[in-house]
Amino acid sequence: MASLKYIYTIYIILSFIISICLSVSIEHKQTKFFGPTPTPVNRNLQFNSEGKFKIVQFTDLHYGESDKQDASSYNSQTGVLNAETDAGLVVMTGDSVSGYAWNGTEGWFAQKWLHLVSPMIQHNIRWAFTCGNHDDEGDLDRTQIVELDNTFNLSLTQQGPSDIQGATNYYLPITDSNGDVQTILYFFDSGDDNCQGVVGWGCVYPDQVEWYRTVSTSLREKYGRVVPAIAFMHIPIPEYMDMWNFYTVNGSLYDTGVCCFSVNTGLFAAFKEMGDVVSMHCGHDHDNDFIGNYNGVQLGYGRKSGYGGYGPPAGWKHGARVLEITANPFSINTYLRFEDGTTEIIPAVHPPQVKEQYNTCCDTYGFVNITGNNYSNCKTYEENFLANNPKLYEINLNHHKKLKNKY
Ligand SMILES: *[C@@H]1O[C@H](CO)[C@@H](O)[C@H](O)[C@H]1NC(C)=O
Ligand SMILES: *[C@@H]1O[C@H](CO)[C@@H](O)[C@H](O)[C@H]1NC(C)=O
Ligand SMILES: *[C@@H]1O[C@H](CO)[C@@H](O)[C@H](O)[C@H]1NC(C)=O
Ligand SMILES: *[C@@H]1O[C@H](CO)[C@@H](O)[C@H](O)[C@H]1NC(C)=O
Ligand SMILES: *[C@@H]1O[C@H](CO)[C@@H](O)[C@H](O)[C@H]1NC(C)=O
Repeated sequence: MASLKYIYTIYIILSFIISICLSVSIEHKQTKFFGPTPTPVNRNLQFNSEGKFKIVQFTDLHYGESDKQDASSYNSQTGVLNAETDAGLVVMTGDSVSGYAWNGTEGWFAQKWLHLVSPMIQHNIRWAFTCGNHDDEGDLDRTQIVELDNTFNLSLTQQGPSDIQGATNYYLPITDSNGDVQTILYFFDSGDDNCQGVVGWGCVYPDQVEWYRTVSTSLREKYGRVVPAIAFMHIPIPEYMDMWNFYTVNGSLYDTGVCCFSVNTGLFAAFKEMGDVVSMHCGHDHDNDFIGNYNGVQLGYGRKSGYGGYGPPAGWKHGARVLEITANPFSINTYLRFEDGTTEIIPAVHPPQVKEQYNTCCDTYGFVNITGNNYSNCKTYEENFLANNPKLYEINLNHHKKLKNKY
């Protein structure tokens, strides 16, 4: 018994020393990479005097594959922002950088990031980011990406609680001119691959859903009512697939189905239970842009904004989805804004039908597209990209073997 106690004491002392060493090395890394955190600009998001607040959603910018594509992506963002001069916030719903194109040099990601945030800096517009499945494939992990982003004083991105899955789990309130909160924006980190070890795409894990319930409950108690909310994440929830199959939606599905969570972790159920989230917006599937009302919750894709990666389909312009929110009574007006400055409200074009239904999220077992393939555009593109760049293939293969805590 005495010797057990002795071993236990040694163990405690050792783990204390190790944890100190670890935190010192992490601190060292942070200062090395990112320097001091700047003075933030005004963080308060506020409806204008007409009670409106406008959000521009950039999704799947995919910087990093070539200078030419990055220049085009930059022009796409600039074209949109030139036309949306009254936008209050840019939301980036993931895959801003094609991490698989990492060239093996430290500082690569930071250089791409500076490029992709510069249109917002030039327009003096604040932004909020949530991670996609490709951002952390390069030289930075999810936590470091948030640290890097936070060195820009226009960034409203936040590091989520460290004891739940993912990094970018946070919320931002929007107030009216009296300072009363009228809308909540939730940001979820939907991970990379294989939700809970199940083959397919990532998801918002049960502990994140629980975090959302807790936050939502505390906000309801704080404000004495249910404040309408909008959720942003990269990967769509499985309900997008049901909506495409059985409901009338505006827009199209040209992608390899809907690349949704490989496990339905109950996020939609939590939205219905809490009653605050009435609208959700994602990216991930570059060739899908449909949007509809699924049992009282608006579910929408953005429009592919950047030139890296596959898509969008021939004839589709690059651009952004714009959400114009009106407070009290709450409503959302949404349309697409393209890089050439034009806009479009896609009319309802897809009624429910039996000819083209999907029975499972793409890249999960049992998934076959209409003509018999079971591999998504996303996976196929990344594989071909690396096959065509043997040097990058070596770097990324070795790198990915070393990546820990990837899910
Ligand atoms: C934000 O940072 C820029 C430099 O990146 C600086 O010019 C500007 O004054 C800063 N704004 C505030 C409010 O600190
Ligand atoms: C990798 O990319 C960074 C950023 O674009 C660049 O500065 C660096 O020279 C590149 N390194 C190699 C080995 O190509
Ligand atoms: C869907 O299409 C209808 C009919 O054209 C249009 O009135 C509506 O604004 C569209 N909704 C969205 C969210 O684009
Ligand atoms: C999907 O493709 C892989 C590789 O070609 C194959 O091994 C697997 O059986 C396929 N799964 C389905 C459900 O078709
Ligand atoms: C489905 O798979 C086939 C066979 O690999 C492929 O040629 C086709 O482009 C895919 N269709 C879609 C809509 O992704």
